[in-house]
Amino acid sequence: MKKVAIILLSLVMLASMGMSVFASGQQDGDKPLKVGLSFSDFDTERWSTEADAMEKLFTEAGCEVVIQVANHDAKLQNDQIDNMVTGGVDVLLIVAEDGAAAATAVDDAAAEGIKVIAYDRLIKSANLSAYISFDNVAVGEAQAKAIVERVPEGRFVMLGGSPTDNNAVLFRKGQMNIVQPLVDAGKIEIVADQWVENWDSATATTKMENILTAIDNGVDAVVASNDGTALGALQAMKAQGLAGVVPISGQDATAAGCKSIVEGELSMTVFKDLRKLMPLAVETTLALGRGESISGMTSYSLKELTGDNLSGDVPCKFLEVISVDADNVYEEVVKSGFQAYDEVYKDIPEDQRPPKV
Ligand code: GAL
Repeated sequence: MKKVAIILLSLVMLASMGMSVFASGQQDGDKPLKVGLSFSDFDTERWSTEADAMEKLFTEAGCEVVIQVANHDAKLQNDQIDNMVTGGVDVLLIVAEDGAAAATAVDDAAAEGIKVIAYDRLIKSANLSAYISFDNVAVGEAQAKAIVERVPEGRFVMLGGSPTDNNAVLFRKGQMNIVQPLVDAGKIEIVADQWVENWDSATATTKMENILTAIDNGVDAVVASNDGTALGALQAMKAQGLAGVVPISGQDATAAGCKSIVEGELSMTVFKDLRKLMPLAVETTLALGRGESISGMTSYSLKELTGDNLSGDVPCKFLEVISVDADNVYEEVVKSGFQAYDEVYKDIPEDQRPPKV
C-alpha cells in the first residue's frame, strides 16, 4: 500500500466529516491529549502503514503521539504499555500480540484512569473502553465461501493465523461456519489443520511443505487466513506445481496479494478498508480523551467474542469487509486507490492489463 496515498485519502475522509476531528485534541487548559499507540510488530504490511498514517492524523488533530512496537514479544509489549502509562498518556490504542497477556497491561492502565482501545485485535479485558475492528467472523466466512465455490468437495488444508491473536480464532470460526456443514455431509475432508505463529510467512512455507509431504500432495484446497501466510504457503505449493491449481484464500488486499490474484495464484483476498478504521479510531480516541461517551458502539460479551469463559462486556464497532478475487480486484482495490495500479499489475503484459486509473 502506498503510504502517502493512504494517509492523504484518510485526511480527505476526515475533512469530508466536517473537520470535526481536527483541532480537537486539546484538553482543558490547552494541554494536548497524549496518545500512545502500541503495535505487536511491523512485519505485516498494514501495521507500519497504519502507524505512520495514524501518527499524522493524531498530530493534525493536535495530539501528542508516542508509538512503540513489540516485535512479537508479548512481555515487551506489556512493558512498553506500562512505560507509556508512566509517561503520562491519556488514551492508549493497542494492537495486541497476545490478547490474553495484554489484559494485564490494560487492567493496570485502566486502574490509572487511562482509556484503552483495542485496535483491530481484541484484548481479553473488560476494562477496555472500546474494541474497534472489522467483522472478523465475516472475514473467515468470505475466505471459506470463495474456496468452497471453487472446490465444493475434496481434501482441505486449514491454515490458521497466530494462535495468540483472537482475530485468528474469529477467522477460523467464520471459516468453519461454512466448512463444517460440508465436512458433516461427507463432502469435505480436513487433511491438515494448523496455526501459523506470528502470522509469519516463512513459517507458513515450512508448515505447508511438511503438510504436502505428509499427505503426498493430496490437497484440493487451502483455506489460509491472510495474504502473508497464503503467499508463504504458495511458495511450498509452487515447488510442487500446485500454485494456481489448488485454490487458496488470503486477507488484507496487500499489494503482493493482489498481484498474486491477477497472476492467477492466490484465489481471493478480503479487503478491509483501513481508510475507514483509522479515522474511526481517531474520532473514538478524541471523544474518550474529552471524557465524552462514545456513540455508535454495540456491547458484546467477552464470552461471545472469545469463546472463553470470561465475564464482562466491551463496547464494539465492526466495519464491513469485501471479498475480492480476479473479477473485482481492479474495481474494489485498485480503482479505489487502496493499492497502486503499477504494483498490482507490475508483471502483467500491457495488453492484458485493465485501463490505468
Ligand atoms: C490480524 C489482522 C489481519 C492481519 C494479521 C497479521 O489480527 O486482522 O489484518 O494483518 O493480524 O498481522
